[in-house]
Amino acid sequence: MYEQLGETREWIQAQTDLVPSVGVVLGSGLGGLVGHLQVEREISYQDIPHFPVSTVAGHAGKLVFGSLGSTRIVAMQGRLHYYEGHPMRSLAYPIALMKMLGVKTLVVSNAAGGMNPDFEPGDLMVITDHINLFGDNPLIGLNDERLGPRFPDMTEVYSRGLIDLAEDRARALGVSLKRGVYVGLSGPAYETAAEIRYMQSIGGDAVGMSTVPEAMTARYLGLDVLGISCITNMSTGLATEKHSHQEVLKTAQAAAKRFCKLVADVVRALGDEQDGTSF
Ligand code: HPA
Repeated sequence: MYEQLGETREWIQAQTDLVPSVGVVLGSGLGGLVGHLQVEREISYQDIPHFPVSTVAGHAGKLVFGSLGSTRIVAMQGRLHYYEGHPMRSLAYPIALMKMLGVKTLVVSNAAGGMNPDFEPGDLMVITDHINLFGDNPLIGLNDERLGPRFPDMTEVYSRGLIDLAEDRARALGVSLKRGVYVGLSGPAYETAAEIRYMQSIGGDAVGMSTVPEAMTARYLGLDVLGISCITNMSTGLATEKHSHQEVLKTAQAAAKRFCKLVADVVRALGDEQDGTSF
């Protein structure tokens, strides 16, 4: 993988001079953050050598290089999902690529079902920790020590400092921000009511089909991670209606303005932080 990553990096660096310090993975219906960027270069996944390609409706599938204030970022508009048939290791590839391009901090976002009865559709939640119920792991296989350790520590997958920063910025902006544990599983079927009761009982607040592979990979690579969920629906058993992807996208789009405001503000503050000025 390391050699392929080197080739992909070289190819990308021939397309853009921008050196990103923050990587952003945009979840379903949350791609609008790109509208807040001063865009430098957009590259479709299918044009990038060795890059795994995504197909699901609602996921555009491009890397967007640009700036938010003084922060230079690379955003994945359209993520790769395990349920599309990508092997777990493929989900690690874009994250490892971001690291090789200069990224130090990864911001991951997602649409998720609310399992905490205090949540409601449209809420934003900062992820404090996760539970991996994928039954798989992106780090399985031969390990390349140039990327990270064989047995990476997962004590603080989601950086306390970044959680504090997100909560501070949310308060300052008047954006309500819940906090909680994200449970990740493969999908693509939504959960049964019994599965939701199980996940509530083990400490889950929100459930979704992404984020865990990327966050785990990022920690393995030594990146700091911030995770933000958009609660697009209450999960099975708590919801009054059946789930649909249309409903998920509709609620995500309705919450997108608050999501973008918060994430853009946090990312701007990160640039200031990395430049050594205060935020
Ligand atoms: N379950 C799993 N994934 C999801 C959900 C859900 O209820 N909503 C959005 N993504």
